[in-house]
Amino acid sequence: HRYCVIMCGGIGSRFWPYSRADRPKQFIDFFGTGRSLLQMSYDRILPLVDKEHVIIVTNDHYAPLVREQLPELADHQILLEPARRNTAPCIAWAAHHIHALDPEASMIVTPSDHLITRELEFINSIDRGFSFVENNDALLTLGIKPTRPETGYGYIQVGSPVEGNDGILKVKTFTEKPDLDLAKVFVESGEFFWNSGIFLWSAKAILEALHMHAPDLTATFDRGLGDFATEREREFIEREFPSCVNISIDYAVMERAANVYVECVDFGWNDLGTWSSLYDNSPKNRDQNVTQNCRVLAYNSSGNIFAVKGEKLVVANGLHDYIIADAGDVLLICPKSEEQHIKLYVNDVKLTY
Ligand code: GDD
Ligand code: MG
Repeated sequence: HRYCVIMCGGIGSRFWPYSRADRPKQFIDFFGTGRSLLQMSYDRILPLVDKEHVIIVTNDHYAPLVREQLPELADHQILLEPARRNTAPCIAWAAHHIHALDPEASMIVTPSDHLITRELEFINSIDRGFSFVENNDALLTLGIKPTRPETGYGYIQVGSPVEGNDGILKVKTFTEKPDLDLAKVFVESGEFFWNSGIFLWSAKAILEALHMHAPDLTATFDRGLGDFATEREREFIEREFPSCVNISIDYAVMERAANVYVECVDFGWNDLGTWSSLYDNSPKNRDQNVTQNCRVLAYNSSGNIFAVKGEKLVVANGLHDYIIADAGDVLLICPKSEEQHIKLYVNDVKLTY
């Protein structure tokens, strides 16, 4: 059977103050469509995977939000982590859980906070990817043609094409979050793709890769063999999960494994990672301003994104290329060009207030 794992436990701190620890961005309806990014991720996969085979992995704290936003899922489809340990432990648990349900299972692992605009092409690409990992011992990444030397992504260096599988290539190297100089070299060489953060593999293949490249994680989860997908799973996770290493799947497995492949895709992928990416993906008025569910009167102002929660009316004059984000007890005013510092502001706020 085909399964889908939606990773839904991140904090999304670059979207502060809209994204807060108590309601990270995956739970936010950014486009005013009535569906949050998580709900959109779920809707998008339903043509490919039975809804009984969708598994959400998230932090304990977000259980009420997930249940509220996806009421059609049964409790046993929501895996709740008692501690934040990044994506490798999240994926290791999900793989064990799914393997216990069906040792022959294949799975797509997807983030919960991306935007994909061409859903039909998405479905075709994922379907092709599923077939590939069902017939090959492969860890499949989905690669996006890079458009700038972004340092927040993983970079995939492509090797030779796989015979009989159009658009799928062997991966030579995988480099997670290179520094700017290296990212520039990668993009200019034309040999590299961005890692979309969406993966396909069989439960068996990822468990073997974890076994080889993340022995400490494997040691922890091996203590639970026989407990997964039973009534003992909860207790095992409460006891052992907090002792897992804190590492992402990209560093733990993708940079190290030999059987990594890439399917080069083009389905309007967008990592809504930052305010600028939201700006780029939102409809603009004639002054190139974007407003997020709020009322704005703007004079001689352009290129801004106004995201103001609640009833407040915004009046602006002479403001260009700014983020104005007001949520809860925080108002952020920051040039779009400086947004990589928002993570630092969040830290300073924690230290100061
Ligand atoms: N369950 C769970 N637990 N989910 C988590 C956790 C966790 O501890 N940490 C993060 N997530 C979820 C996030 O909510 C997000 O949906 C997804 O896992 C990826 O985590 P990010 O923290 O957003 O990763 P990233 O953006 O820094 O990097 C990844 O994505 C890039 C593309 O957007 C990497 O895979 C990069 O290689 C890739 O280019
Ligand atoms: Mg991300």
